[in-house]
Amino acid sequence: MKKIVLAIILLSNSITFTLKADEGMWLPIFLKALNEADMQSKGLKLTADDIYNINKSSLKDAIVHFGGGCTGEIISDKGLLLTNHHCGYGQIQAHSTVENDLLTNGFWAKNQTEELPNPGLTATFIIRMEDVTAKVLANITEGMSDAEREKKILENISTITKEAVKDTHYGAYIRPFYYGNEYYMFVTETFRDVRLVGAPPSSIGKFGGDTDNWMWPRHTGDFSIFRVYANKDNKPADYSKDNVPYQPKYVIPISLKGIQEGDFTMVYGFPGRTSEYLTSFAVDMIQNVSDPAKVKIRETKLAILDKDMKANDKVRIQYSAKYASIANYWKKWDGERNGLKKADAINKKKLFEQDFLAKVNTDDLAKSNYGNLLSDLENKYKSFSNYNNQRDYFIEAILGIEAVGFAYSYTAVIDALSSGKKAAEIQKDIDRLKSNATTFFKDYNATTDEKVCAALLKLVYDNIPKNEQADIFNEIEKKHKADFNKYAQSIYSKSFFTSEESILKFLNNPEGNYKKALKDPIYLLMKSCYSKFANDVLPQYNSLDIEITKLNRVYMKAMRELVTTKKYYPDANSTLRVTYGKVDGYYPKDGVKYNYYTTLDGIMEKENPSVDEFIVHPKLKELYNKKDYGQYADKSGELHVAFCASNHTTGGNSGSPVFNGNLELIGTNFDRNWEGTMSDIFYNPNQVRNIILDVRYTLFIVDKFAGAGYLLNEMKINK
Ligand code: ARG
Ligand code: GLU
Repeated sequence: MKKIVLAIILLSNSITFTLKADEGMWLPIFLKALNEADMQSKGLKLTADDIYNINKSSLKDAIVHFGGGCTGEIISDKGLLLTNHHCGYGQIQAHSTVENDLLTNGFWAKNQTEELPNPGLTATFIIRMEDVTAKVLANITEGMSDAEREKKILENISTITKEAVKDTHYGAYIRPFYYGNEYYMFVTETFRDVRLVGAPPSSIGKFGGDTDNWMWPRHTGDFSIFRVYANKDNKPADYSKDNVPYQPKYVIPISLKGIQEGDFTMVYGFPGRTSEYLTSFAVDMIQNVSDPAKVKIRETKLAILDKDMKANDKVRIQYSAKYASIANYWKKWDGERNGLKKADAINKKKLFEQDFLAKVNTDDLAKSNYGNLLSDLENKYKSFSNYNNQRDYFIEAILGIEAVGFAYSYTAVIDALSSGKKAAEIQKDIDRLKSNATTFFKDYNATTDEKVCAALLKLVYDNIPKNEQADIFNEIEKKHKADFNKYAQSIYSKSFFTSEESILKFLNNPEGNYKKALKDPIYLLMKSCYSKFANDVLPQYNSLDIEITKLNRVYMKAMRELVTTKKYYPDANSTLRVTYGKVDGYYPKDGVKYNYYTTLDGIMEKENPSVDEFIVHPKLKELYNKKDYGQYADKSGELHVAFCASNHTTGGNSGSPVFNGNLELIGTNFDRNWEGTMSDIFYNPNQVRNIILDVRYTLFIVDKFAGAGYLLNEMKINK
């Protein structure tokens, strides 16, 4: 009966919300069934088997989860790994000193002995993946409570993964897909000796900096090169000078043939997180409440940092990395809310929901299972939105005050001392606080933070309803007449959390001083805000979050059952995915068309010797003046720098290889366009572009700029 109804529904389908071209982050094991034909019709010359295969070597054997957060690709039979400059940034910075500043000058190991080890850095390959849904959901019954269900699932996961890696050096993890309707296991091989081989100077690797971040047209040479090392048996090992370059199962060939608009492109990597199946209520909350609040808070903070950084060189250096990381998501959320609006995402979701409901109502069983689903979700979001907003303000504004976050890290020690513990019993924690204090104060300016404190508290005061504010706001109102500058001034001048000297004094005699800490005004501010959050926000937030996830799980199932005109891909969750599209420019606004590639000429156009981000290295200028581009220029003699395409990517895809139809490397993914950052929530093919560093520019920099052309001898280069 149900089947017949479904068939009728299919015939009478009126859904307007079908999967748009190029949308989707696909699981490699299903490419053959779901995508191969489509990919080939769009220009793929090879097969799904060439992309993912567990019986012979395939492209997947050259794709690396780099340091857990980025992607990298293997481009030589001696384990050479290509990723972004911003992915290797932490390592490049760690090797830098004032005398030997690799960030500023770049770095090129002239031979393997000069390659630099990076403790803690890993490169993880996927050995295989497997659908383990039935095993993970074994013995899960309808009658179970949420907690029982969760516990059983975790037990099952632990049994399955242990079994999968028994007697091997592999690792394994299992992740939920489709809101927990399915589970997949990934068996992995993780290498622990990954050395830095080369990086361009920041003036190339970070050219355009935060100004150009999330923007097209782009000219950033965002790459760095590492090498994976293994023991003599080609297996993962801790760093040792006896380790040898890893011999990969597959080496990615590089194409110097260039690209044309419309060419097929494919990205293979580890996208972090997307939420493509949210309801209109959720998108409404993100677009109209959450993103605007977070943007406003960060904008306020960035303005203060910017002013102080410009006024004082020491502050500029102290805050440059912090500023970049705050600015990255500030700009992303700003692009996201604008992009959602431009794509009319809420209304499109609403139309889809109407159609969905119409389908539900044609079938009695569907009606009884799913009839209330959307109204339930709508109701949940009515209260969730408020808790989510309070949580945003707590995380972004309250914890955005550095001294408050710093004071919070003292809670455990101060609580222990207050409950009668002796300092000797918690010496390890005290020592950790001491070493953290040194790191914290190296990059801390109390005067700047005091201004941030005043401004962010005022934002909370002005935007959160009175009864939802922490008690301390009452006091600020009474004692300081809600003058947040005066309040901040008074607490920053009295607190011992704002200088290394006073905090070390405390840590050297914690038993004698903890009572003072309990009365410290910054500690009191932190305590008041934290207890409000922990008592009145977090529990409600968490329980609603669990209920919403449960409803989303059912909604996901219902959509897949009832709206069968659409191919469903699972949201990104830091697992290996394939996305494909084409090289394509776009129209950012009425009357403006962006070309699909940029060139070295554009770098010279952007040059500005008085702005750090736009200084052009003299050597690069020299090559430009001589037009010394060698084999890296296109037919007309232009040197391409970057290009954009319609691949559906997100954070975590940084460093991902980008392939042409022959599965040759044509570039390295490193960003998305500002107009398209909403694609984590709603993909619109007209707006969304990923930004790719052209591999010809990468090799030009390695060879012509850095004089490290010997590295090219290791690579498979197709001309
Ligand atoms: N927007 C890119 C990515 O999320 C690059 C970030 C690094 N670059 C920067 N200028 N902060 O994450
Ligand atoms: N830069 C991002 C990353 O670090 C990729 C940009 C995006 O979110 O698409 O992964």
